[in-house]
Amino acid sequence: MKNLHPLVKKVLFTREDILKRTKEVTEEIERYYNLEPLADNSLLVVGLLKGCVPFYTDFCMNCNLTMEMDFMVVSSYNGGISSDLDPTVSLDLKTDVRGRDILIVEDIIDTGLTLDYVKNYLFRKGAKSVKILTMLDKPSGRRTDLVPDWSCFTIEPAFIIGYGLDYQEKIRNLPYVAICDTEKLKDWKW
Ligand code: IMP
Repeated sequence: MKNLHPLVKKVLFTREDILKRTKEVTEEIERYYNLEPLADNSLLVVGLLKGCVPFYTDFCMNCNLTMEMDFMVVSSYNGGISSDLDPTVSLDLKTDVRGRDILIVEDIIDTGLTLDYVKNYLFRKGAKSVKILTMLDKPSGRRTDLVPDWSCFTIEPAFIIGYGLDYQEKIRNLPYVAICDTEKLKDWKW
């Protein structure tokens, strides 16, 4: 691959790899929901902004189920004294989720705290079912017992950039998933 970003240490998955695997997983998801009668005859596909955007688009464009799209922003912040991350919803869904079948689409699951929170939040609001699709799963970082229903790739612990994943809000647009060269971050200037 040419023109790699200088912060890339190693490319894990090219756009081609991601599209191929997304197709396979999308077929599994279609098979699953074709056996389950969907409330309102449609799936509510919820993307967690901003990281989900490239993968969310790939999934939705491949998927033949009748769907509605909606988005949330869930921020995790450190409360200051405790080291526990405390997720909060900073942009909520416009859709009424009562009685709906929901598929959450995420870029990466690390601790699992964000998705654990969102899943409970949607059930509290009356969702009928909540399933999780993630592009990447980093099970080594898990601090909850959350397991995604569908995952494209399981990866080793590393700081990942590209295909939605950022460093300082930048380089989400890299058309591949890569391990970041964290040595370079110490004196990195944009
Ligand atoms: P969790 O709550 O720890 O599972 O975190 C999920 C969120 O953390 C993801 O949606 C990403 O925004 C962010 N995140 C986790 N790992 C990485 C990474 O390796 N690179 C960039 N962002 C990450």
